[in-house]
Amino acid sequence: MAREVDRPRLGELLRAEEERFVAQHPRSRELFEQGRQSLLAGVPMPWMTEWAGAFPVFVAEASGARFTDVDGHSYVDFCPGDTGAMTGHSPPATAEAIAEQARRGVTLMLPTEDSAWVGEELGRRFGLPYWQFALTATDANRFTIRLARAITGRPKVLVYAWCYHGTVDETFAIAVEGETRSRPDNVGPPVDLAETTKAIEWNDVNALDAALAEGDVACVLAEPAMTNIGIIPPEPGYHDALRALTREHGTLLAIDETHTICAGPGGYTRAHGLEPDFVTLGKPIAGGVPAAAYGMSAEVGGRIAAYLDTLETSDVGGIGGTLSGNALSLAATRGTLGQVLTDEAFERMIALGERFEAGVNEVIAAHEAPWHATRLGCRVEYGFRETPPRNGSEAAATTDRELERFLHLHALNRGILMTPFHNMALMCPATTEADVDDHTRAFGDALNALFP
Ligand SMILES: Cc1ncc(COP(=O)(O)O)c(C=O)c1O
Repeated sequence: MAREVDRPRLGELLRAEEERFVAQHPRSRELFEQGRQSLLAGVPMPWMTEWAGAFPVFVAEASGARFTDVDGHSYVDFCPGDTGAMTGHSPPATAEAIAEQARRGVTLMLPTEDSAWVGEELGRRFGLPYWQFALTATDANRFTIRLARAITGRPKVLVYAWCYHGTVDETFAIAVEGETRSRPDNVGPPVDLAETTKAIEWNDVNALDAALAEGDVACVLAEPAMTNIGIIPPEPGYHDALRALTREHGTLLAIDETHTICAGPGGYTRAHGLEPDFVTLGKPIAGGVPAAAYGMSAEVGGRIAAYLDTLETSDVGGIGGTLSGNALSLAATRGTLGQVLTDEAFERMIALGERFEAGVNEVIAAHEAPWHATRLGCRVEYGFRETPPRNGSEAAATTDRELERFLHLHALNRGILMTPFHNMALMCPATTEADVDDHTRAFGDALNALFP
């Protein structure tokens, strides 16, 4: 019989960790106070206040799988910039490519030699022949949606409830009793979400068929396994149904590999033989320097080229960005794909992911905690229900902010950084077995305290 969390005990444990955090981080606190004089909420972006401590840890230096804070504490980083630094921090090959290109011109309105190399390498990895570049995965998704609408002449996008694809207006949708609604905390939506979007539950083939049958969906935008509300893999056969139904109903299929690149060098798409019309990705492909890409099939590339030919100019049509495809981003992408996120690196990282998952599962079983762990390649996440959820709404229902806060702060106070708003850990090429075992030990200590 699995055990319940004792809430009063959890409250006491959390308070003790909060006090310890404040006592150990005087310099971070000072910098946070200083930041409040000029920055809204004291930090560059509002989500930086949502770490588990009373203020964020300020970073002095980061390298590989570790960073040091301004109070001199060293941490193993299982968050790596929420995937932006899945390469490890400042990997030497990327840093050298950046330094070299920075001396030779950062941005022009012209291509450099690196662009074709990167296009060919992405083609080799993901199996799609044509590529374009952006600065963020958000933009790669936005441009993909626009192009899908343009070439199909259809108005809507289908997404999965509780997905996240960046700050893309059309995607902030959930499904409530079969209706598409805005998700909570959507800041200033331009129009009612139901005008632009259909949201359905992940892994529900019937709902997908019904939504596509209306013939108004330009594209499905999907992570191949959900990762932003915990990891929720597709059920067996779901991707086959998704591809067959999108083809049957004339809807394009866009697969967002921004996080699921953790599944291997060609993401989930290559690891599982998917055949999307578009692939989008960003975050780690240039080692954390802003860079993103979207690829398309030969058939879709032909349709887009024909459509663009009908326009007088392509520079103010809603696809672009002055710095997109700049020389520095492409040099960093070439350095990263060529020498850091290699096939061999993924082999090591995935083995470490397996070790991390096994450690977490042993601790959960030993304490009969009503939790589970899920792994996708080198990404592992634990969730607060006994069995894995089937879809985003089931996962959202088990969010437990207090418990999450305690586990994050307990880990942080022992030199381990987990990903905020998640219980996620990502292995990078510099992560070691000892780093993984440190987490397992600390996680065991946390559960000893919670379930004495
Ligand atoms: C699956 C997915 N796609 C796209 C994005 C957007 O990435 P960015 O914020 O770098 O634009 C994110 C961000 O978390 C993501 O998780």
